Amino acid sequence: MAILVTGGAGYIGSHTCVELLNAGYEVVVLDNLSNSSEKSLGRVEALTGKKVTFYKGDILDRELLNDLFKKESIDSCIHFAGLKAVGESVSKPWEYYENNIAGTLTLVDVMRQNGCKNIIFSSSATVYGDPAEIPITENCPKGQCTNPYGWTKSMLEQILSDMQKADPEWNVILLRYFNPIGAHPSGTMGENPNGIPNNLMPYITQVAVGKLEQLGVFGDDYDTPDGTGVRDYIHVVDLALGHVKALKKIEDKAGLCIYNLGTGHGYSVLDIVKNFEAANDIKIPYVIKERRPGDIATCYCDPSKAKRELGWEAQYGIREMCADSWRWQKNNPNGYEE
Ligand code: NAD
Ligand code: UFG
Repeated sequence: MAILVTGGAGYIGSHTCVELLNAGYEVVVLDNLSNSSEKSLGRVEALTGKKVTFYKGDILDRELLNDLFKKESIDSCIHFAGLKAVGESVSKPWEYYENNIAGTLTLVDVMRQNGCKNIIFSSSATVYGDPAEIPITENCPKGQCTNPYGWTKSMLEQILSDMQKADPEWNVILLRYFNPIGAHPSGTMGENPNGIPNNLMPYITQVAVGKLEQLGVFGDDYDTPDGTGVRDYIHVVDLALGHVKALKKIEDKAGLCIYNLGTGHGYSVLDIVKNFEAANDIKIPYVIKERRPGDIATCYCDPSKAKRELGWEAQYGIREMCADSWRWQKNNPNGYEE
């Protein structure tokens, strides 16, 4: 039996493919490469010594999906495919709703028609909005999202939950990721953003490699210990391992389950700068800028439910996250491009 990994050529997907193959699963990737390179899958194969079956195509392409399900013996789907740039989603809402929502509706329809009713969905801490409690547990009510990207996650959670309630044959696991950073410790795989990065860690590594001059710190007047935003950064390999644990839960007939995947520790922007500098012995020049619209002060989770029910707990600390992010960037200054 194989696992379908949509968006498997992307940042989190490719790291998850490594851990799935290491755990003995067969992996079939479907990705339209709109935000990734097929080369990532070559690195997955080199690291694991195992083959990935790759379909270049879109989750909106019903014919292709049907063909894939006819040819492959898919047991479960880990669904990463989606557009994820917060700012872009504000200027292109239709494209985000079409790709993420219509794409997922097509995917799950083809899945059920082919008798596959097991899905792990990439959700996000963004569904909590400005969280009602810190640390955030899964019981914390969902909040008002500040952008269409966030709404696609919130709405897809609702859609998949409603489908599971209507048809209990479905096993649906919603994984709410906090802030994934880091890269494979080999330095051969990592995050490969197009253009100027929106997220903190890729911005820092591009300053470190000399592509960008200095980091802009978005606000130093939040109600946090040093005034800068606090987040729950999690190593992408830990996140990948969380998916392997979630698959075991699916095999035990999960029904509908929701888990936060984070470390439970909050680090500020300046904490990250300091840890990056100490881990890698590189100075990161920065300047304080205005707050970024839509940002919240503090976001970190209580990950104990995942520990209790999945037996999963993050292993990597912040220094390793900083060192691995830098190793990837340093060895691959242009990402997967030569
Ligand atoms: P990514 O952009 O690196 O990976 C997403 C992959 O999906 C890409 O390879 C892209 O080419 C592919 N894709 C997009 N639309 C597609 C479509 N219609 N058909 C087929 N393939 C398509 O992003 P990532 O950081 O690896 O994120 C993976 C998932 O996790 C996304 O759903 C994202 O929203 C979610 N997530 C990410 C973060 C984060 O900070 N990185 C946080 C929370 C949730
Ligand atoms: N930040 C800066 N300068 C930058 C980039 C970010 O100061 O150049 C700050 C932000 O203001 C924030 C922190 O660094 O305080 C983290 O910002 P990121 O953009 O890296 O991450 P976010 O917490 O804003 O959002 C990320 C993903 C979302 C996801 C969310 C929760 O981008 O998709 O985590 O999972 F929804």
